[in-house]
Amino acid sequence: MSDSWLHLEGKVAIVTGGASGIGRHITNELISNGVKVVVADLNVKEGVKLTNPYYLKCDVTKKESVDRMVAKTVELFGSVDILINNAGGNDYGFLDLETLDEKVGYTNFEVRSIMCPGCGGQSFLRH
Ligand SMILES: NC(=O)c1ccc[n+]([C@@H]2O[C@H](COP(=O)([O-])OP(=O)(O)OC[C@H]3O[C@@H](n4cnc5c(N)ncnc54)[C@H](O)[C@@H]3O)[C@@H](O)[C@H]2O)c1
Repeated sequence: MSDSWLHLEGKVAIVTGGASGIGRHITNELISNGVKVVVADLNVKEGVKLTNPYYLKCDVTKKESVDRMVAKTVELFGSVDILINNAGGNDYGFLDLETLDEKVGYTNFEVRSIMCPGCGGQSFLRH
């Protein structure tokens, strides 16, 4: 049990893109503060037994995938208290006006992810 001033013990968090990079560090920090974490990521092998973090395969750009992931989290842990909407990518490099198509692709990915009501945002609002 942590004695952190954050008082997050026992909370349930979903960290999208938590399998690597910034998301993995956030995941580790939450766990060290007593949080049960579900890592929702494209590149994970789905958990078969309860672990912390628990891994769920999810594509945050697909509403049905997000709906399933949130439902499974609630089924396993009872609620969703914290959402870290981190999934994304930085494969695009620096954008400039010469790469308009790339820019549109980037915007689509970032915006059409979990926070978009049509792409899974409603799953979270229910909990
Ligand atoms: N690293 C930086 O300098 C930087 C700067 C600004 C913003 N960001 C943002 O921070 C976030 C994390 O960056 P990072 O550097 O840790 O990236 P990363 O590439 O190391 O990790 C991203 C994670 O997201 C997962 N992911 C990608 N697409 C997904 C999808 N559709 N559904 C579910 N999971 C998916 C990947 O599998 C990976 O585990 C991203 O949103 C990125 O755009 C990063």
